[in-house]
Amino acid sequence: MDQYHEPVAELTPLDRDFVRALSSLKEEIEAINWYHQRVAAASDPQIKAIMAHNRDEEMEHAIMGLEWLRRTMPGWDAVMRTYLFTTGDITALEDAATAEGQTGEAPQSARPAGSGSLGIGSLKATR
Ligand SMILES: [Fe+2]
Ligand SMILES: [Fe+2]
Repeated sequence: MDQYHEPVAELTPLDRDFVRALSSLKEEIEAINWYHQRVAAASDPQIKAIMAHNRDEEMEHAIMGLEWLRRTMPGWDAVMRTYLFTTGDITALEDAATAEGQTGEAPQSARPAGSGSLGIGSLKATR
């Protein structure tokens, strides 16, 4: 299958699941892009609304795949903790995390207000 860039026999079953998840994520992101362009260009309000609905569902599909990657594929969790649900200058977060000796956890200055050192504040806030 052309989704592989290395001999498939050299990939573990988990590696192959990573390929499936990453390919699926790419497809969901492409769908968001295409639907959004159609929403922007459509003139009929009903088809515009339908395609906006579809676009937003593709966001759900994409984020479900991302969450599986976060839980499963090394690396995602750390970078998500550095960059997601922050405010301010996104490009400054890497330097801030490095300066604070973080290993992927968002720097204190970038965390949502009220979050604790365990990083569970944002979970509490959404419930
Ligand atoms: Fe739907
Ligand atoms: Fe989808």
